[in-house]
Amino acid sequence: MANATTQTNRREAFGSRNVFILSAIGSAVGLGNIWRFPYVAYEGGGGAFLIPYLCALLTAGIPLLFFDYAIGHRFRGSAPLAFRRMHRAAEPLGWWQVLICVVIATYYAVIIAWAAMYTWFSARISWGAGNEDAFFFGEFLQLGDVAKDGVSTQFVPQVGYPLIGVWLVVIIIMALGVKRGIGRANLVLMPLLTLMFVLLVVQSLFLPGAVDGLNAFFTPNWEALADPGVWASAYGHIFFSLSVAFGIMVTYSSYLKRRTDLTGSGLVVAFANSGFEILAGIGVFAALGFMAQTQATDVSGVATAGIGLAFVAFPTIVSQAAGGSIIGVLFFGALVFAGITSLISVLEVVVAALQDKLGWRRVPTTLVVSIPIALISVAFFSTTTGLLVLDTTDAFVNAFGIMAVALIAVILVAWVLHRLPVLRDHLNRRSSFRLGRVWMLLVAVLSPIVLGYLFVSEVVAKVTEPYEGYPAWFLAIFGWGMVIALVVLAILLSLLPWSRRSHAKDDPEYDEFLVEESYEPDAETGAVPLPAETSRGVRS
Ligand code: PHE
Repeated sequence: MANATTQTNRREAFGSRNVFILSAIGSAVGLGNIWRFPYVAYEGGGGAFLIPYLCALLTAGIPLLFFDYAIGHRFRGSAPLAFRRMHRAAEPLGWWQVLICVVIATYYAVIIAWAAMYTWFSARISWGAGNEDAFFFGEFLQLGDVAKDGVSTQFVPQVGYPLIGVWLVVIIIMALGVKRGIGRANLVLMPLLTLMFVLLVVQSLFLPGAVDGLNAFFTPNWEALADPGVWASAYGHIFFSLSVAFGIMVTYSSYLKRRTDLTGSGLVVAFANSGFEILAGIGVFAALGFMAQTQATDVSGVATAGIGLAFVAFPTIVSQAAGGSIIGVLFFGALVFAGITSLISVLEVVVAALQDKLGWRRVPTTLVVSIPIALISVAFFSTTTGLLVLDTTDAFVNAFGIMAVALIAVILVAWVLHRLPVLRDHLNRRSSFRLGRVWMLLVAVLSPIVLGYLFVSEVVAKVTEPYEGYPAWFLAIFGWGMVIALVVLAILLSLLPWSRRSHAKDDPEYDEFLVEESYEPDAETGAVPLPAETSRGVRS
């Protein structure tokens, strides 16, 4: 059986469980933790937000993280392969996740490139103090106006060149493979990131006014808890923050050895991610407290999220604070490292899917995947209207693309294919933290309700109000058009045949694995795995 072909096509693996855990944390800890969480928490009731946040984490985030791990590890494949092995008709779900990851990768890289430039600018405070806003949008991005000028193709070198640099680094990491590339990068970057985070928080706590910032961040506003929107934002944030339903955790867990404590690992990843979030909240609000004090306003007057926080508020703080350069280098450097470890996880979803489907080797697959994404990324986002395209695509694809895929996956697996007992047994076989009925109820009942609510409210919001007031043709192409295009493309990709060389078609390791699991009917439901389930079940 172990002939030359199966040898070369052997599935890659992480060096150890700890490297997997670090890589999963690397994926989860990203821009969301640094620039999104602090503001979401502040808006959602400050200290009181801890309640919806913990509820969301425990009742949906962690259960769905386990769900993703179970699918990837049990069916040992990239998202399309794992779903395909579960049921032929489920394959498009995997491709949909792959395509969402393609979209995310094109712009995630751009933000890393900006942050890299700003790390450099921070060292010399070269953004004309007092005019950080105009500097970022005007001088740095050279932002155009789609309404007036349409989509422009003017190249902006100070964005384009660092972006090319980011892509080169990331392509090298990806080409080195799971163990030597992704595993090692996380092994180096995650401890560094942690150190930078801690230093950043300590440094910002010493700024004058830091206490006001912390008060604003932590003071509980209990009334916020009566607002369903706050609960929805807690759930929405947790899905994004833990990177569930993007195919990432499915892909990463397919690289784990057979005997692995899956639920124990999941708990470590989830709590580490939350730890980073809370630390970021402290650091960011301490710095905002300082900013409010120097401008003689309230923290509420300076609190923002996203691009405004990172590229306008933080540069202002860096300009004004004593030792501002250090804060800037730590903050933007942290964005770069957190971004890179998330970006490689997103790309791995795509690379792994094509490797499985086509049976190609690592390096050619990496190049075929990354070069076109890099080119799209450079072509679109280093031009003067790039930011607006980025923002629109993100708002549509991320918001309901992900909600929809998660919703369909949960309903399909739980209610149509009845595979939850199989997944639960798989998780329990070797795990330290055992799952029972509660987990099944949370995944099968609570999460579809929450996801359905979030999905419908997103769609309603997008239909009733043109996003950011952008022109209708623009939203039709880069918003709605992109969402529809992805769905159609996902279905088409699932119809393409699996290559004969693909290890997915003949995977002795997977077959052995099934024998070892030796399925008996589930005591409660009588569900039995498909009788013909072997890797040979993946036919073209
Ligand atoms: N979890 C990442 C964060 O918190 C975001 C992310 C989601 C990254 C999906 C990649 C894919 O920023």
